[in-house]
Amino acid sequence: MVGYTIGEAVMFSSTTRLSQSVTDLIRADHAQLLVSFHQYTAASKTSARKVLVDAICDALEIHTMLEEEVFYPVLRRLNPDEAVIQKSEPEHDEMLRMIAELRQTKVTDERHDALLLELVRDAMHHVADEETVLLPEAERLLDSTRLNELGEAMQRRRLELQKPGKGGRNVATGFSGSTTAIVVGLAGAALMAARLVTKKEPELSNSRH
Ligand SMILES: [Fe+2]
Ligand SMILES: [Fe+2]
Repeated sequence: MVGYTIGEAVMFSSTTRLSQSVTDLIRADHAQLLVSFHQYTAASKTSARKVLVDAICDALEIHTMLEEEVFYPVLRRLNPDEAVIQKSEPEHDEMLRMIAELRQTKVTDERHDALLLELVRDAMHHVADEETVLLPEAERLLDSTRLNELGEAMQRRRLELQKPGKGGRNVATGFSGSTTAIVVGLAGAALMAARLVTKKEPELSNSRH
C-alpha cells in the first residue's frame, strides 16, 4: 500500500478483485464492518472515532445499495417467496435511516454511541440471515460463472459510486466504504485514525477512556 493514495489503492484493489464471486465479496464486506466497529470501540480520541464512524456509515450504506441493485434482484427472481428476502428490503431501509440519523449526531453527543450500537446490532442480525440463508442459497442456485458475473457487476457499480460528482462518495476524502474498497478503505480509515490518536493535539471532549 506504500506509495499509493487511498483512492489509488482502492481502484487497484477493486480492479484486481473483479473476478471474485458476489457472495465472497458480500462476506468480505460483512467481515470488514465488524473490524471497523472493533476499531471504533478501541479508539479513545474523538477525532479518531469520527473518522471510523464515518467509514462505517459510508461502507454500510454503499454495501446496502450494492446488494439492492445487484444481488437481491437476482435472488428475488429465483425465490420470491423466501421470507428472509422479503424482510431484507425493509431492514436495509431501516439501516439507511439509522445511518442518516447517526451522521447528523455529533460524536460527542451522548446519544451517538447508543445509535451506533443499535445500528451495528441490527446490521449483525441482518448479516447473520444473509450469511446463513441467502448466500448459501445463491451458491446452490447459481453456478460459479454467474456468481462471478454478479461479482464483476457489483465491483463496477462500486467504482461508479466512488466517483465524485456521480452520485457516489469521494474516496479520496476518506473512504468510501464502498464496500469495495472496504478492505483498503477500512485500512485507510484505521491508518488515519491511528495518526489522529498519536497526534499531539488537545483531547476533545470525550468521556471515554
Ligand atoms: Fe443486506
Ligand atoms: Fe450484506
